[in-house]
Amino acid sequence: MDDSILKGFSKYNKQQRIDALIQKYGFQEDLGIWLASFENSDGYIQKIIDDLSENPISSFHFPFSIAPNFVVNCKNLFFPLVSEESSVVAALGNAAGFWAKRGGFHAEVLGTEKKGQVHFSWKGNPEQLQLLFPEIQEKLLAESAFLTAKMEERGGGVPNIELKSLPDILQNYFQLDVSFETCNAMGANFINSCLEQFGKSLQDYFRSDEKFSGEEKDCEIIMAILSNYTPESRVYAWVECPVADLLDGKSAEECELFVRKFEQAIRISQADVSRAVTHNKGIFNGIDALAVATGNDFRAIEACGHAFASRNGQYSGLTDVLIQDGKFRFSIDLALAVGVIGGVTSVHPLAKLSMKILDNPSAKELMMYLAVAGLASNFGAVKALVSVGIQQGHMKMHLSNILNQLQIPEVSRGKIQKYFQDKTVSFSKVEAYWKNFKRIT
Ligand code: MEV
Repeated sequence: MDDSILKGFSKYNKQQRIDALIQKYGFQEDLGIWLASFENSDGYIQKIIDDLSENPISSFHFPFSIAPNFVVNCKNLFFPLVSEESSVVAALGNAAGFWAKRGGFHAEVLGTEKKGQVHFSWKGNPEQLQLLFPEIQEKLLAESAFLTAKMEERGGGVPNIELKSLPDILQNYFQLDVSFETCNAMGANFINSCLEQFGKSLQDYFRSDEKFSGEEKDCEIIMAILSNYTPESRVYAWVECPVADLLDGKSAEECELFVRKFEQAIRISQADVSRAVTHNKGIFNGIDALAVATGNDFRAIEACGHAFASRNGQYSGLTDVLIQDGKFRFSIDLALAVGVIGGVTSVHPLAKLSMKILDNPSAKELMMYLAVAGLASNFGAVKALVSVGIQQGHMKMHLSNILNQLQIPEVSRGKIQKYFQDKTVSFSKVEAYWKNFKRIT
């Protein structure tokens, strides 16, 4: 392998990047042709995809899927989903169909406030600064008006700024803890621009005001950045039905046993961190798939969700269940922030289609759909876990991947799938069976 340090790689064109890859790893000369086969034949679309990131050499595909029958607040939708994990989409589709027959999903947005912080050090009296804060705030808002005016016209803006003195974290350390309302936009650029402007105004305030002298004139801005933890941007979703209607074609006793185990599984996820992480991972299987399909930042959504899962001092499962008066109610309470205008959502052709499939939702509606995707995914996982186990569904998908890997023709697949219906699936077992199958047919 060539170990030389490359300079100016970001200035290379695509072919030069591929050549560098071939040279470093000794790949075949025609690698570029193979990589190009993953690209869009429409050069305009490929450029849009390439421009989303840096140093692209091709496009990396994941399946773009549909789960139908999502009834949310009485509206019947298809959910567009991007996931590379087999059985995630199937589980979502099954849960959607299941709850469509039982009144569908219900959801409401409890808040949409986003957050940002200016972290700074100042060598002065914190009490004096707190007293001066009304006039500081006035200056911050006035000097950022050129950034906020348009957002305010749309109903958004900067509803609140708080000054926090935090000497326990660092000596002379303060924060401006700022709330933002960004309407239908994710608003990351808006928030960060406002925060950087607040930092400049703050420094100017200390430098130019006669009340301050010596060290007090210096305010050091450590950093100004949005916070992905948005506990006031909050959504709640739930499903409910009589316990007796919970399982198609099953007796009242079977339904009750299922509900008892389901409730136990949820209580375990709320108390045991090892289980809670896996439980929430299953929730984000659904949320991420919809977030990626709609061009939203799934890392931000996950980071916020996991922090929210620890809000009471212990990391715990994000869903809850209530069994009362013969009714089963299953819910999710989640902090998450999304946008439906700007960013990848407005640029990526498939994200744009996803938004159309969702009937061009507002940011609030998309928050509800994401919470519903999480709840549906969790319902599917826990339902399987406390009944048939997770492997039954997984193995079906696993078998289909193995059939693809072995390039088994479509005509032979039905018989092989039937044979493995009640057997443990492994690559070697399917391969051996296929070899024998070919010999005898
Ligand atoms: C697998 O991707 C997700 C599950 O492990 C979630 C869970 O255990 O709840 C099935």
